[in-house]
Amino acid sequence: MTLLKVEQVNKIYTGNVQYQAIANLDLSVEKGEFVGIMGPSGSGKTTLLNMIATIDPPTSGSVQIHDANPYTLSFDKLAEFRRKELGFIFQSFNLLDTLTVRENILLPLTLDGTPLATMNEKLDVIATKLGITPILDKRTYQISGGESQRTAVARAAIHEPKLFLADEPTGNLDSKNSEEVMQLLSRLNKEEEATILLVTHDPQAASFCNRVVFIKDGSLYNEIYRGDNTAVFYQQIMDTLTLLGGKQHVIPPIRH
Ligand SMILES: Nc1ncnc2c1ncn2[C@@H]1O[C@H](COP(=O)(O)OP(=O)(O)O)[C@@H](O)[C@H]1O
Ligand SMILES: [Mg+2]
Repeated sequence: MTLLKVEQVNKIYTGNVQYQAIANLDLSVEKGEFVGIMGPSGSGKTTLLNMIATIDPPTSGSVQIHDANPYTLSFDKLAEFRRKELGFIFQSFNLLDTLTVRENILLPLTLDGTPLATMNEKLDVIATKLGITPILDKRTYQISGGESQRTAVARAAIHEPKLFLADEPTGNLDSKNSEEVMQLLSRLNKEEEATILLVTHDPQAASFCNRVVFIKDGSLYNEIYRGDNTAVFYQQIMDTLTLLGGKQHVIPPIRH
């Protein structure tokens, strides 16, 4: 089943200077896929993710998620769609500092008026799965970056969204915590059949995906699928990044 269909999408930022950030882009994602999006800095990755996230509408073209075009929804319905169907994970975690880990994770359900017993059941399941039960009563300033991102993954997952959207979720983490967060996302994908779209500049993180789509100057440049061998996939990602050029990052050796 096709879960996401981006067709002939263009995004032109208007302002003092007009800028076409996305040009005639097509992207289809099947339910249960784990897709990485890579490309040089400024190639349009965040713009694409924001259009899919229903945050910023395309200038032309269509975005279909689970057979619905979110941009045809009313303001209230769109907010509900975003909250229920999508799970967001950001580089900066976006947790609320005045709340505990538990309260942060439950926030999406609190907003929906979910009964307390149901909330606690769901929390229990997800906290166990993500290994954060011991920190549930801590506040965000008492936990590490890795724990913060695991909390953010739990918050995104508590609604069992149709589509997870992650923009550089390992961008603020060291290599050990990056690895842990990627393992978690990978498990959500394999065990819950979660569909995940991951923007990353880290080939290590991207090598957890089933497919990596490369963007250059707002258009599709190439895509590669993972075979059985992670090391081979990693090397293919590296080779494509080299061909793509643009801003290069420091690349650690393969770890998994
Ligand atoms: N709100 C905006 N207004 C004007 N230009 C923008 C805006 N957001 C992004 N851009 C431009 O669009 C291009 C793509 O940006 P972005 O999607 O953030 O790239 P990436 O995430 O791949 O680094 C960049 O050249 C950026 O400067
Ligand atoms: Mg970006």
